[in-house]
Amino acid sequence: MSNYHIKHLEEYFKVYRKSVREPENFWEEIAEEHFVWRKKWDKVLDWDFSKPAVKWFEGAKLNITENCIDRHLTTKGDKTAILFEPNDPNEKAEHISYNQLHERVNKFANVLKEQGVKKGDRVCIYVPMIPELAIATLACARIGAIHSVVFAGFSSKALATRINDSDCKLVITSDGSYRGKKTIDLKGIVDEALENCDCVESVLVVKRINSDIYLKEGRDKWLQPLLDNASAVCKAEIMDAEDPLFILYTSGSTGTPKGMVHTTAGYMVYTAYTFKNAFQYRDDDVYWCTADIGWITGHSYIVYGPLANGATTVMFEGVPSYPSFGRFWEIVEKHKVNQFYTAPTAIRALSKHGGELVEKYDLSSLKVLGSVGEPINEEAWHWYNDNIGKKKSPIVDTWWQTETGGMMITPIPYVTPTKPTYATLPFIGVQPALMDENGNELKGNQVEGRLCIKYPWPSMARTIWGNHQRYKETYFSAFDNMYFTGDGALRDEVGYYRITGRVDDVIIVSGHNLGTAPIEDAINEHPAIAESAIVGFPHDIKGSALYGYITLKDAGEYRNHDNLKKEINQLITDRIGPIAKLDKIQFSDGLPKTRSGKIMRRILRKIASNELDNLGDTSTLLNPEVVQSIIDKRL
Ligand code: WT7
Repeated sequence: MSNYHIKHLEEYFKVYRKSVREPENFWEEIAEEHFVWRKKWDKVLDWDFSKPAVKWFEGAKLNITENCIDRHLTTKGDKTAILFEPNDPNEKAEHISYNQLHERVNKFANVLKEQGVKKGDRVCIYVPMIPELAIATLACARIGAIHSVVFAGFSSKALATRINDSDCKLVITSDGSYRGKKTIDLKGIVDEALENCDCVESVLVVKRINSDIYLKEGRDKWLQPLLDNASAVCKAEIMDAEDPLFILYTSGSTGTPKGMVHTTAGYMVYTAYTFKNAFQYRDDDVYWCTADIGWITGHSYIVYGPLANGATTVMFEGVPSYPSFGRFWEIVEKHKVNQFYTAPTAIRALSKHGGELVEKYDLSSLKVLGSVGEPINEEAWHWYNDNIGKKKSPIVDTWWQTETGGMMITPIPYVTPTKPTYATLPFIGVQPALMDENGNELKGNQVEGRLCIKYPWPSMARTIWGNHQRYKETYFSAFDNMYFTGDGALRDEVGYYRITGRVDDVIIVSGHNLGTAPIEDAINEHPAIAESAIVGFPHDIKGSALYGYITLKDAGEYRNHDNLKKEINQLITDRIGPIAKLDKIQFSDGLPKTRSGKIMRRILRKIASNELDNLGDTSTLLNPEVVQSIIDKRL
């Protein structure tokens, strides 16, 4: 009997138990019945968290694009695979059928081959949310090249770091992008980045905004003429189950961004299976995830998971506020969207700026609402439930990470009773554990601790590109024989999980994962700045925003603090991107430090959050006097 589609709570418990008691049998059945393989595996799972080494479906051969495209052609060739909604509401939406997607991916794959891209080569994709972004990722997968999609809101420096880290040979970009009323010169950003990237041999440019751009002789080429001449047949490269499919960078609490490596078979099986269940997707549904493909949410739940299920997946180029804060609902009405997946920060912004606009649109097609990226607060949960779901569409609060590849803790709609702010129960096959600071597992209910996962799941990242040691230290060293998520969580009286937030120096701003160290490094490059410390504080719309405490080398020269603040945010924009800009900047004569010289962020975090009653013991600090002066000047 197939356990692919779970429909009742008893069935969930039964299947969950099986997935834990006999994980290999369980995943073998799912893999066998719902995917196409060139060769079946020799072994379902091989793992050792102490190394760490994890292999799923070892020995199997496949190509993920045959599962996401080719196999649907006989039954769903004319069905819309990608439904593209442009930035400008007056521009026509584009329906790309599975047949058309097949042709476009094959042509693109042949172009990549002509440019000398081979299996295992890395290709950087820096393209806005237009169909070519999805097509380029699939074209890489078709020929076994490893894609590294970089969110097209990152700066040239951030792009260069990522290109160099994984030695990309080719970059795909566009002449520019639309974002609401603005256009962005993406090609200019790429040109700047490539001044510092020797590894890149060629650049393919998609025409989107018809801007007059510079093409570097011998390096840059317009994509369209190459596509026009390419054959529409490209045989899929036969990949090993554990061959890397892609690299996706995520911020760490320290150091450079981590290139998380995801492999082929396990990632495919798990993203497809979670997509089917967490959205209860049915054949004629229209599904829309508002994320950008530059993030893991887009990889797993705009491209691979939906397409592996033969779904119709909406890609939206624009922003929620253009031309008005009613845009999302206009799109839901226009395309009769059935499953809608977004982030709490968007929900808060939409409720604040355009609550009344919701009434103008017919949202009756909606069946499931999703949330992802950060904890959803009670108020946003209720607004979403009442105004968008009209109390009839369950909200799936899906907890997961770039590293986990797919959803880990989430309700299954119409199956798991939801509870505001709770991600509820582990998904099938996921074995969470809450740990105390001494490394003991907290058993039973009504406990709170650090969230770990005890057993491998198919879509977990296998390593950090070029730095396996860092992978081990970051995720497998805090607790023996467990994957540590970096999040805190509690388990309530019935076993439901609520994610309480990061327990490390990662801050989630508008659903974007930001490490404090790289931001501090950027700020410290300013010649006037001696030291800086970044903490998060609660923000109405962003969830958390950034508060910077900064000490100056020579206060005299930089008495104009407003200018200095602008320069600081400009530096951050240049080094990382505008998403990492500080909301508040406080100049201070010193930062509270331990006797060993470590900045006491805990205290700074409390001051930024205005929690002054409970600062803890400050007497052991090296410089306790500085705390009061910071409090006096807080913003
Ligand atoms: C971090 C991972 C998963 C794709 C988008 C973010 C936080 C994510 C939830 C949620 C509470 C959440 C966690 C996690 N997070 N979803 N439903 N409830 N927190 O991926 O950029 O790798 O960030 O986002 O803190 O560790 P990411």
